[in-house]
Amino acid sequence: MRIDVLTLFPELVDRILSESVVGRGRAAGLFSVVCHQIRDFAQNKHNNVDDTPYGGGNGMVMAPGPIKRCFDDAVKDAPDGERRRVIYLSPKGAPLTQETVERLAEYDRLVLLCGHYEGVDQRVLDAIVDEEISIGDYVLTGGELPACVLTDAVVRLIPGVLASPECHEDESISSGLLEYPQYTRPAVWEGEAVPEILLSGDHARIRAWRLQRSLELTEQRRPEMALAWKTAHPPKEKKQRKGKSRQKSDA
Ligand SMILES: C[S@@+](CC[C@H](N)C(=O)[O-])C[C@H]1O[C@@H](n2cnc3c(N)ncnc32)[C@H](O)[C@@H]1O
Repeated sequence: MRIDVLTLFPELVDRILSESVVGRGRAAGLFSVVCHQIRDFAQNKHNNVDDTPYGGGNGMVMAPGPIKRCFDDAVKDAPDGERRRVIYLSPKGAPLTQETVERLAEYDRLVLLCGHYEGVDQRVLDAIVDEEISIGDYVLTGGELPACVLTDAVVRLIPGVLASPECHEDESISSGLLEYPQYTRPAVWEGEAVPEILLSGDHARIRAWRLQRSLELTEQRRPEMALAWKTAHPPKEKKQRKGKSRQKSDA
């Protein structure tokens, strides 16, 4: 997968996406991230990329021309048949969910447009953008952090980025429940002991304990999620013991 980020702050995005697990996956060539400076595509003396809004109002709006030229340059060598999705990070977009992340992980290329100031001229959004995504109901100063959030969530699904594929399976949201509490050494810390069952080595009982904790936590914090999970996982009917049923029919 290749991710192109169109931004006024390419160094910021590049830096964040060069660290930790994502940075290692990127360095190993499991995916690539290319950051493009929209300002390089300005065509005026002062390299301005924004202007006052038509109709009046606060702040500045990012002009369509530099963004469109930057986009055309980013995709100029795209291979035929490439599965590409162009996303504008915006508080007006659809909320980002794990389902969306899994869908986006199927593309060959994501192009992420980061707005700034009061936003972006609607005409360039209409011309190039496939969907708008919000990372939450709050307003940030720019789309760079949302682009990094989206990239992080998507690339960790690429095989090899995480140490083991099972890492996804138990996780909050992916499993349909919030994750159970985790513990590591020391076994007693500031007088607080790790739940004894986790030291038992009995993997079946540990699995059952973790599921129970996950369910309790999800019921407390996200009741709608717990209800959906319970609907999808009805309790298994206990098998009738042969001896018992024979007794009944004998009676
Ligand atoms: C100050 S915001 C513009 C907000 C815009 N005037 C509005 O009311 O919708 C500047 C840029 O930050 C980004 N942004 C801000 N909050 C965001 C969020 N919750 N999710 C995704 N992007 C966001 C967008 O790219 C946006 O163009």
